[in-house]
Amino acid sequence: MENRNVELAEEILRLKRQRGAIILAHNYQRGEVQDLADFVGDSLELSQKASKTEAEVIVFCGVHFMAETASILCPDKKVLLPDISAGCPMANVITAKKLIAKKREFLDATVVCYINSPADVKAESDICCTSANAVKVIERLDTNKVLFVPDQYLGYYTSTKVDKEMILWPGFCPTHVRIQPEDIVYLKSEYPYAKVIVHPECRPEVIILADEVLSTGGMCGFAKQTDGKVIIVGTEVGIIHRLSKENPDKKFIAASQKAVCPNMKRITPEKMLWALQDMAPEVRVTEKIRVRAKKAVDKMLEIGKVDQKITSLN
Ligand code: 13P
Ligand code: SF4
Repeated sequence: MENRNVELAEEILRLKRQRGAIILAHNYQRGEVQDLADFVGDSLELSQKASKTEAEVIVFCGVHFMAETASILCPDKKVLLPDISAGCPMANVITAKKLIAKKREFLDATVVCYINSPADVKAESDICCTSANAVKVIERLDTNKVLFVPDQYLGYYTSTKVDKEMILWPGFCPTHVRIQPEDIVYLKSEYPYAKVIVHPECRPEVIILADEVLSTGGMCGFAKQTDGKVIIVGTEVGIIHRLSKENPDKKFIAASQKAVCPNMKRITPEKMLWALQDMAPEVRVTEKIRVRAKKAVDKMLEIGKVDQKITSLN
């Protein structure tokens, strides 16, 4: 590391301690941001971590809906998003107003909302899910009709795994659609013994070519336990940093170099430092929306707790 970067890292860590802060980073963050974090994970793991932390300040290195979820769960904490313009274009295709109108068309449907959504959309939903638990969440509903928002591809993939009628919102991730079936076919011809893992935000034509369909946290777990030495990874390229660091004996190949989320890349170590210096920009949700959104997020987290209990009994 260059001297300037070492000094910057030291200053971030010093201020972090002084402020009583924890740094959470998503798996798609720049390598240098991940390396400064106390915890790196997927959306579910990050919200679980936020709900349990005793730190007074959370520096959230991710995109807006993730920091918002942390604030929904921990209203007494200060949640800082080092670049307030780091949004998620997929989350922003849906608004509470549009969802309320759609709910009127499907009065008998349960609304399941992907965590990649604004807080007021969560507030209008019955339960949340992430890519790690969408199948489990929907399987356990006691209704047969689901209005799933806003990712049509995660929704479609989930619908192939559950026995429910699913109405899909037409949103998608502009980064994951850049991964094409041809990319996988080409890499498979170059590395015939490679395992293929993809994120459920990918198109169905890509998903069908995969050995495993996993959340980013699931990918990190798979990479550790597989015997495979070469793994083709169909998701945002930032995850390759963590995969390679944790598994130096394995080779990870990004399915497409075009799968870069510009919003995730907005967070830099310098902006982390400024956030800790200024204690801003802060993400906070109005109390009226927060309370309703929290119900949907809590219901999802409760499912994880039930599972942990079942596992510990075995
Ligand atoms: P994960 O929850 O799998 O980390 O996915 C978050 C995301 O934004 C995928 O694009
Ligand atoms: Fe949103 Fe896609 Fe970026 Fe994830 S990768 S934060 S879904 S735009």
